[in-house]
Amino acid sequence: MTVTWTSGYSIKEAMPFVEWGHEGGSQVHLSPAGTLTFSRNSMCGSPARTVGWRDPGYIHTSFLKELWPDSLYTYRLGHRLPDGTHIWSKPYSFRASPYPGQDSLQRVVIFGDLGKAEIDGSDEYGNYEQASLYTTNQIIKELDSIDMVIHIGDISYADGYLSQWDQFTAQIEPIASSVPYMIGIGNHERDWPDTGSFYGHNDSGGECGVPTQTLFYLPAENRAKSWYKTDYGMFRFCVANSEEDWRAGSEQYRFIEECVSSVDRSKQPWLVFLAHRVLGYSSGSWYEVMMGTYGEPMGRDGLEELWQKYKVDLAVFGHIHSYERTCPIYQASVCSSQTFPVYPYLQIIIKASRVERDFVSFCVRACRAGACRTDRTATSAASTRRRTSSSSSAAPASLPSGTAYPTGASPGTTTSDSGS
Ligand SMILES: [Fe+2]
Repeated sequence: MTVTWTSGYSIKEAMPFVEWGHEGGSQVHLSPAGTLTFSRNSMCGSPARTVGWRDPGYIHTSFLKELWPDSLYTYRLGHRLPDGTHIWSKPYSFRASPYPGQDSLQRVVIFGDLGKAEIDGSDEYGNYEQASLYTTNQIIKELDSIDMVIHIGDISYADGYLSQWDQFTAQIEPIASSVPYMIGIGNHERDWPDTGSFYGHNDSGGECGVPTQTLFYLPAENRAKSWYKTDYGMFRFCVANSEEDWRAGSEQYRFIEECVSSVDRSKQPWLVFLAHRVLGYSSGSWYEVMMGTYGEPMGRDGLEELWQKYKVDLAVFGHIHSYERTCPIYQASVCSSQTFPVYPYLQIIIKASRVERDFVSFCVRACRAGACRTDRTATSAASTRRRTSSSSSAAPASLPSGTAYPTGASPGTTTSDSGS
């Protein structure tokens, strides 16, 4: 387990460490922490380098190793001062991950685009993330039944106003101090012109990834690239960085292939691809109007090949601030032996909730009804019908009348369309 925190102590002023042990046990372990920081000059532009700059203090990271699977641990953060006295945090606790391959239950919450907000409703820069409080409060309320959180990009929306990282990390601390809080990189962390990001926009406010890649430890071979793989219980997560090139032949593409091909499916039967930007296949009006149904398709064909070849179970994206899901799609079609191999679907149907079973059944029915292609004509017609209907579950034009979507399960059903 990795523990990261921020303080005002450099290593010349105090030695950072974590004191930890089995809950209720007598043995106490001490693990030293490494210390990083970053400077104004490592910012790529304004406001991060100018009016938004704030000294981040020191970021400490410690690794608690050789944990007993599924065991409860307590820990606290310490700083040893030169006179031998200590500064202590309050105590925290976490449960260690299950042994890889152990038949066990994992409950993983995945979302993108969270941000932060003032709990008293005060105005602030980028004051459009009030809903983040609902999300964090709900997760905190249900924390006893959550094993892991993955935040796939657009983390704090500090956008170059660095004090907002403190506000964000304070908001998520009850979560991140208790369960693994993994992140991916989004445009609001990384994008800045002429700094190597795939998109040359100024969405990061001059941060160009530096605060994110210092504040959050990622198990990445190259911290600046920020793509990585991680196993948790019965999951293998391949977390890509959509703000770097991932087209076939790129360095990241090679990493993704290595990630999806190297997993031992007897231990991690669930193989999940995560990234910030959506790889097209959206029928949402924002993408459809602004960018075409297949917005941002860069590299999609190549990635699809990998997902198909190595039988990726699930791909989840953020960025669009909407909830939307699709039937299985391969090469713009939902209907082929490639998208409906029998065995995996039997597995899903057996293991899934009733809502999921209904959704799979819907996809099979849609396929049989001829709603195979996900081309713009079909989805545009579906969107038009949605906009003119009082129901959010209108069927695509190519489905025969009377073929109903399960509630909330239509491919392309969106709850909102805004932002990125
Ligand atoms: Fe985004």
